[in-house]
Amino acid sequence: MENQKLEDLSKYKCKVCNEPLSEIIDFGKQPLGNGFLEKEDINQEYFYSMRIGFSEKSMMLQLLEQPEPKRMFHNNYAFFSSTSKNMAVHFESFAESVIKSLNMKENSPFVIELGCNDGILLKHFAKKNIKHLGIEPSTNVANEAKKIGINTISEFFSEELADKILETEGQCDRFLSANVMCHIPNINNVALGIKKLLKKKGLLIFEDPYLGDVVKKTSYDQIYDEHIFLFSALSIKFLFEKHNMELVDLIPQNTHGGSMRYIIGHKDQHIISKNVENIISTELKLGLNNIQNKQVLKSNVERSKTQLFSLLKKLKSEGKTIAGYAATSKSTTVFNYCNIGPELVDYICDSTPLKQGKLSPGMHIPIVSPNEFKKNPPDYALLLAWNHSEEIMQNEKEFTNNGGKWITHIPEVKIL
Ligand code: SAH
Ligand code: TMP
Repeated sequence: MENQKLEDLSKYKCKVCNEPLSEIIDFGKQPLGNGFLEKEDINQEYFYSMRIGFSEKSMMLQLLEQPEPKRMFHNNYAFFSSTSKNMAVHFESFAESVIKSLNMKENSPFVIELGCNDGILLKHFAKKNIKHLGIEPSTNVANEAKKIGINTISEFFSEELADKILETEGQCDRFLSANVMCHIPNINNVALGIKKLLKKKGLLIFEDPYLGDVVKKTSYDQIYDEHIFLFSALSIKFLFEKHNMELVDLIPQNTHGGSMRYIIGHKDQHIISKNVENIISTELKLGLNNIQNKQVLKSNVERSKTQLFSLLKKLKSEGKTIAGYAATSKSTTVFNYCNIGPELVDYICDSTPLKQGKLSPGMHIPIVSPNEFKKNPPDYALLLAWNHSEEIMQNEKEFTNNGGKWITHIPEVKIL
């Protein structure tokens, strides 16, 4: 049996270095993280086997298997970036820092964004008449960006698309991306496309959820179909050095429960910040380069699962009502992995109209609007968008003041 498992695993190769992967955690059958569905579609629901593996060579943590990108990103994509006010503020300051770094006297700087969604970041460039281009394959959110005047093309990025852009628009000064690079399986092809598009002194600046935070906080819910990779400075360094590019700076971010901003340029074109050496040495101390550390993550994840399920079951047996707060894609992993369904959680409230009236992926908990939460408050609210806790606590002061209790599972399962 064990031999058979090893044999099966050998077909999974690292998407960066093509070496075999070691399996770390098996999360079992999972639906699409953003696959909110109607009752009548339950029988056709899509599931895949969600397992993560690690390559000691590239140091990249990644899904062994994932759904086809077209299944996840289409004309009915459920995540609209602008639903969070705090993220809007974050992207405004991201844009300001990029604009400040651009030489505006130079002949018309050009900025490209990968996965611009509804235009939350690029709108600040459009407002200042800076030449820009958004690449966004999910047409419904891309249309929102177009509506507010953002130049957007609705396609999946690849080296081939980079060639086309190069022909019509030329090279860019900044290639930006937030919470997108970790979604794209053919990452070497993406790196090649970016390399072609970037001017000699240009910069690639992107941010994504950070493996260091996932390990520290046991935030395993960052793992779902769309998040094919969990990056660290070590794995990003390996990836881009393969393509003769280098890390210029690293700036940790608080967004999405702990992210890293990676600043990358063509080799030998920039002064390298001290942050690069410092963060890499912290990662080596944390063991982000080896498999042992991933085994610690595995046991922490298993403990979190047992504790969350037991807590909800205990509260339910005491006759308490429990609701989920925010139908995040992260919560799809939590509910399906921990086997939490409508018998424990009555409903989930979420401010995204497209999710309301639907069922949560896999476990089929009804999604309602935050108004329903206000009208029919539970005894306990399970905080699923823990990365937006400040904003949510601000919105739901009344619930808390009236004695409503919050449950979190990050960094450990507890009642707040
Ligand atoms: N940048 C936004 C959106 C993140 S959600 C933010 O941080 O809020 C991820 C986005 O990546 C989705 O809008 C999805 O459609 C887009 N995406 C997925 N694969 C892509 C690809 N190959 N090329 C460009 N965008 C992609
Ligand atoms: P994210 O964690 O992937 O950013 O998803 C956030 C989800 O939480 C999204 O579906 C919108 C929802 N949400 C609320 O319902 N209320 C809120 O106050 C905030 C900030 C988010």
